[in-house]
Amino acid sequence: MCGIVGYVGNDKSLEVLLGGLKRLEYRGYDSAGIAVIDGDGAMNTRKRAGKLSVLSDDLEQAPIANGATGIGHTRWATHGGPSDRNAHPHLGDDGKLALIHNGIIENYAELKQELLNDGAEFESETDTEVAALLIGKAYRETGDLTSAFRSVVSRLEGAFTLLAIHQDEPGVVVAARRNSPLVIGLGEGENFLGSDVAAFVAYTRRAVAIGQDEIVTIRPDSVLVTDFAGNEVTTDEFEVSWNADAADKGGWPSFMAKEITEEPAAVTNTLLGRLTEDGVHISELDDLGEDYLKAIDRITIVACGTAAYAADLGKYALEKWSRLPVTVELSHEFRYRDPVLDERTLVVSISQSGETMDTLMAVKYARENGAKTLSICNTQGATIPRESDAVIYTHAGPEVAVASTKAFVAQAVAIYLLALHFAQVRGTLGQEQVQHNVAELKALPDKLEQVLESSADIAALARWMTDTDSVIFLGRNAGFPVAMEGALKLKEIAYIHAEGFAAGELKHGPIALIEPGQHVFVVVPSPRGENSLHKKVVSNIQEIRARGAVVLAIAEMGDAEVAANADEVVRIPLAGPLFEPILAVAPLHIFAMELAKAKGLDVDQPRNLAKSVTVE
Ligand code: F6R
Repeated sequence: MCGIVGYVGNDKSLEVLLGGLKRLEYRGYDSAGIAVIDGDGAMNTRKRAGKLSVLSDDLEQAPIANGATGIGHTRWATHGGPSDRNAHPHLGDDGKLALIHNGIIENYAELKQELLNDGAEFESETDTEVAALLIGKAYRETGDLTSAFRSVVSRLEGAFTLLAIHQDEPGVVVAARRNSPLVIGLGEGENFLGSDVAAFVAYTRRAVAIGQDEIVTIRPDSVLVTDFAGNEVTTDEFEVSWNADAADKGGWPSFMAKEITEEPAAVTNTLLGRLTEDGVHISELDDLGEDYLKAIDRITIVACGTAAYAADLGKYALEKWSRLPVTVELSHEFRYRDPVLDERTLVVSISQSGETMDTLMAVKYARENGAKTLSICNTQGATIPRESDAVIYTHAGPEVAVASTKAFVAQAVAIYLLALHFAQVRGTLGQEQVQHNVAELKALPDKLEQVLESSADIAALARWMTDTDSVIFLGRNAGFPVAMEGALKLKEIAYIHAEGFAAGELKHGPIALIEPGQHVFVVVPSPRGENSLHKKVVSNIQEIRARGAVVLAIAEMGDAEVAANADEVVRIPLAGPLFEPILAVAPLHIFAMELAKAKGLDVDQPRNLAKSVTVE
């Protein structure tokens, strides 16, 4: 939920920390702070409530000395509201240790009481300060920051990544992690730490992900990783597959605008290396074994938010092509309701960040209860893939805007690939059907480019609707998850009350909401094909129009019947029934962004939200 960066090397900590925090700001943006040990060995800290720009401006007006060792933090408040006092770093009681934290220390109250009994004084209302005081105190006993960490971290319960520096030990940053992300960046004569690789990708693409309950000590020329007991552990280095430019706005007015335009590329890159002459092969599934893929009798997908809507969409293809029963569950509901699981259940998690705590806990629960786990993830080295039996990476590139867009299409495509892989292994689709679906997948990027060409018209529609205070989204069959995604995006970016409904459900209640002037987006399926639900959706449109609704339809090119029944029509290219929803979602992403812009809102950093929800 917070962004963390650490650096040790040359006298450039300030640049590294502020640059890293800029790239991590999507993780939290209600306060920010840094601590640097300067060339004279003095500890300099600065922290400010508000976005990172407040801290940067402050540092510009009243600079602090640069140094070779530093840590930086951008916060999404949990314990203690956003204020200068509660911003990180927090100091040990002698002011020599500075510490930053991502996560929640669940037993902080009893630890705080212990410190209060010893006469400690607290400057903030955070759980973090407890760790700062405990490690600061332990340092006085051990004289070594790594040992001080070791004596404290196993006492902390909950989720944490902690990073600290100590004035008496310049040239060292120590970190520990439990249930919260941490990655090392390996440089030449310098090393980095970050909540994710975005923190340091401007300097190095060599990275190492840190396992559960491990402590890391970085110096300019060395990296040591141990478990909490001090035993050295082996680590795997990986190369970050994107460069710093990918994490920059690159001339776009917002990250969200950039990422929507990257939807076609997100599909292309997710398909890359997974299409064969015969159809589809996902080599990552080799880790599970073909016998296992044949033996499973059910799939449960766990995810939250947009990832869960991508799962809802993917379910249509997965069931249809693999003939396996599929359920989609919100991760936080799944693990608390005693779900039936066994070794023949494959639990697939979907997470862009790979750090969503609810999903991580669902994956752990599934493994503990005998299921195998497969992660669909966009972030290399993240925790959920590390905790899973196998991983399919969606190579959508870094997603920085808080609202997920390109990840949705990449996740849907990854499930479609999974569905085709299963269909081949289990023999549930003929060669011709597989080839047909592969051709549909391959055609998606170009068709998505065509959809993006109507951005200006959608922006005009959004501007026309700036004063609306409620929008309903309807979809049927595979269009239903698209309606849900459209409603979520509008809520979170434009702060407009929005609801998504299955169009068939309308008459069972929601139609009571329709009154003259109510805006309703309808995802209309193609009229082509024997089993088309087009007529039924057009009937729904007629029902709501008769009651005064303003209907905005998303329909395929050439669908004249819709044009005659709707107030506005956004056109998408022709595609098969399972593929058109992937084209219908982009206009809704653009619509939400443009409406938020028209209302003068910050589309990349909506209020109250953070990109990775790393607390339950
Ligand atoms: C919505 C959004 C969230 C995330 C959800 C899961 O635009 O971004 O609903 O989709 O928090 O996040 P990941 O995919 O990182 O697990």
